[in-house]
Amino acid sequence: MKVAGLFAGIGGLEVGFAQAGHEAVLLSEVLTPARAVLSERMPDVDLRGDVCELKALPGDVEIVTAGFPCQDLSQAGQVRGLDGLRSGLVGEVFRLAADAKPRWIVLENVPFMLQLSGGDAMRRIVDSLEELGYRWAWRVVDTFAFGLPQRRERVILVASRTEDPSAVLFADEARLQRPETALGRVAHGFYWTEGRAGLGWAPDGVPTLKNGSSVGIPSPPAILMPDGRVVKPDLRDAERLQGFEADWTLAAENVGRASARWALVGSAVSVPVAEWLGRRLVEPGAYDQGLDGDFPLTGRLPKAARFDGRVRRTVRIGTDPVAVRPAHLHEFLRYEGPPLSARATAGFLGRTAVAKLRFAPGFIAAIEAHLASVGGAPALKAAA
Ligand SMILES: C[S@@+](CC[C@H](N)C(=O)[O-])C[C@H]1O[C@@H](n2cnc3c(N)ncnc32)[C@H](O)[C@@H]1O
Repeated sequence: MKVAGLFAGIGGLEVGFAQAGHEAVLLSEVLTPARAVLSERMPDVDLRGDVCELKALPGDVEIVTAGFPCQDLSQAGQVRGLDGLRSGLVGEVFRLAADAKPRWIVLENVPFMLQLSGGDAMRRIVDSLEELGYRWAWRVVDTFAFGLPQRRERVILVASRTEDPSAVLFADEARLQRPETALGRVAHGFYWTEGRAGLGWAPDGVPTLKNGSSVGIPSPPAILMPDGRVVKPDLRDAERLQGFEADWTLAAENVGRASARWALVGSAVSVPVAEWLGRRLVEPGAYDQGLDGDFPLTGRLPKAARFDGRVRRTVRIGTDPVAVRPAHLHEFLRYEGPPLSARATAGFLGRTAVAKLRFAPGFIAAIEAHLASVGGAPALKAAA
């Protein structure tokens, strides 16, 4: 099917869809470094700028994808609701869809979307879809189950005017056991920028790669390797952790700072997730109505739900449509990452020292050993 990719970023959805046989015919993206990547990687596709300036979609488009900006929605950002300028951009998707009436609409966002304004933001999105005559289904899925050692939950919403989106999103269910903490045996990813109120932590994986703060400062996680080294992953491995080939975003360096690539990678849809979805759009499976539950009229929303044209339902299904066990993180990584600096390590230890958190036994000792190995004095820790 022909695809219009709105808010295309570096094309995670469109690359995965291409692997499933679909063809992007139009992309819309405003950010210069992302545009540089798209023009290099998909040179034949019509690349437009601001979605608001798109008058219409090409008539033969059957799938519209939109991973609309999540800065306003994500926990990291300031919560300003759907009316916030940027997240209000999802309204542009409905404007274009009202006219073009595409067969499928695919939205993607952070799971916090489901909690925003007590669930009302998401309720307004599905209200709009229903007004346009679409049935819909959403599901939180985790990249880890798709064979990549990254914990990354995202909500995917599929809507259709002609088919049952439940048969796309809920036809597959597997259950992949997540690795347990095992210091010294496998690698553990963690956010060294955190450690006071919480700690993004992933045994044998990295926690969700992020797009940085609202001012665009990239914050890659650190990795405690089985041999005790603490490194920051190489950007090329971060690209691979999202399912892209290494150096997928290199072209961004022609137009901006190299560090901008981290934000691009952190915002993207993981390619194998998109590929699975793309395949199911071609060949929907079957929906088991036994999974149906009651949909909450108010308050917190479920991780999976659907609208069958008449009634909204909660769907009792997990985050793993497939169960492709990833390689061990330390074996997956291909490039030698730089050690976490003494300053960063000391800062992290300083935060953990005053935190009321419980860390895995041996973790803090391992980080202290790393600090000593990179020449950090305990005094640095105190000063941090
Ligand atoms: C969450 S990212 C999407 C990532 C994308 N799905 C991928 O796999 O790379 C949202 C993107 O929307 C872009 N964006 C923000 N406002 C836009 C607008 N008005 N028109 C087009 N793109 C916009 C941002 O620059 C950002 O790249």
